[in-house]
Amino acid sequence: MQVPPTKASHAHEVETPHDEVNRPSGGALSGKRVVLGISGGIAAYKAAELTRLLRKAGATVHVIMTQAAQAFITPLTLQTLSGNVVATELLDLTQESQIGHIQLADSADLLLIAPATADLLARLSLGLASDLLTTVALACQAKLVLCPAMNVNMWNKPQVQAHIAQLLSFGAHIIGPEQGELACGWVGSGRMVEPSAIVTAAESILAAEQKRDLAGRWVVVTAGPTYEAIDPVRFIGNRSSGKMGFALASDAVRRGAEVTLIAGPVALDTPPGVHRKNVESAREMAQAVLPLLERSRPPDCIVMAAAVADHRPTEVATRKRKKQDLGQSPQIALTENPDILRSLGEARRGPHPLLVGFAAETHDVEAYARRKLIEKGCDVIIANNVAEDGSGFGTDTNRVTILTRQSGDSVLRQELPLLGKSAVAEKIWEHLLPLLPAPRDS
Ligand code: C5P
Repeated sequence: MQVPPTKASHAHEVETPHDEVNRPSGGALSGKRVVLGISGGIAAYKAAELTRLLRKAGATVHVIMTQAAQAFITPLTLQTLSGNVVATELLDLTQESQIGHIQLADSADLLLIAPATADLLARLSLGLASDLLTTVALACQAKLVLCPAMNVNMWNKPQVQAHIAQLLSFGAHIIGPEQGELACGWVGSGRMVEPSAIVTAAESILAAEQKRDLAGRWVVVTAGPTYEAIDPVRFIGNRSSGKMGFALASDAVRRGAEVTLIAGPVALDTPPGVHRKNVESAREMAQAVLPLLERSRPPDCIVMAAAVADHRPTEVATRKRKKQDLGQSPQIALTENPDILRSLGEARRGPHPLLVGFAAETHDVEAYARRKLIEKGCDVIIANNVAEDGSGFGTDTNRVTILTRQSGDSVLRQELPLLGKSAVAEKIWEHLLPLLPAPRDS
């Protein structure tokens, strides 16, 4: 069938013979602007099909190719399929005046890089801006989706895995690679995910971005450590950075919730839109949290992500304790702190609020977490092993298991892989959403 050429709406757009691919699907990619980065691996040939499918899903596609990518597939192919000029050079006067790399970065709804080679992942993880694609990635504020493709032994190298962990912690989404026969002859993990599956994943990432599924809800999140004063100078504290709680607060705001963040002493900026109250000790945190239950409209959910000290020094010296006054083996007498989560569990009447605790342990993680879930009277416990590499306090990634109390004392268990803390936060809210009590009328 003869397809009439379409008129390019932009001076630099070219016409495409694939008119049918422009038909919007009504899905999350419909009407969205995807910047598709292609780096130099053999899987680059699949980027042609990916471009076609993205357009079929209703997206506008702007392709950026690295130098190496052009050895595998020509810019002309991608230009024809995308219907837009392909960008290849950072320091090219003509291209820069035609496309403008910052404009490209600013206008993207999604930056999708497929294939992402080991070299590209390393440069992205380090924040290098050594070519057009890495520069756009650094300037771009849209979601970054990476589809790695490489030889299995490269993929398994700790260097590559470290870059992946770093990119996850920066909020990137990693799709694949898949197991299978590789172009280099090896069989194993390293094959780029098929274009149709990449499009499905991109749609669900954009759909999650557009969700306001916590609109009308009030959630309270505690975060960070508590400091228990010994004297005006010293305290007993712990290594909690507050990053997990802040990620939960930030994702809840994105989903439309009203968010109160009660933060222990941490060095983190307040996520935009979050109401923050700073506290120092466990008792201050208890004073900030417990009265919320008395409100005529209590929170819909309280997530106790803070690492609250179980004990505090019984006496707090008003002046700095001097070494010479303390004797040979100084002792600090401790008193138990109020257990905020347990008090909430005991005090709540009815289903409000949904109570979520965290169990940070170094051993027998799940056994302790299950016990806390029951004993503290909460609905969900997020268990994490803080002794494991890449998980727990201070890191940007986390590996958690979500334990949910069912009827009676039975427990439902969902294990998540190692993810960036923002991705863990997303997964936790997705898990909590169906458990929230019915919204109140006022
Ligand atoms: O018993 P453990 O401290 O390990 O319990 C962890 C959970 O209980 C966390 O959710 C923490 O915020 C909460 N907790 C509390 N008050 C305390 C101690 C812990 O709310 N005094």
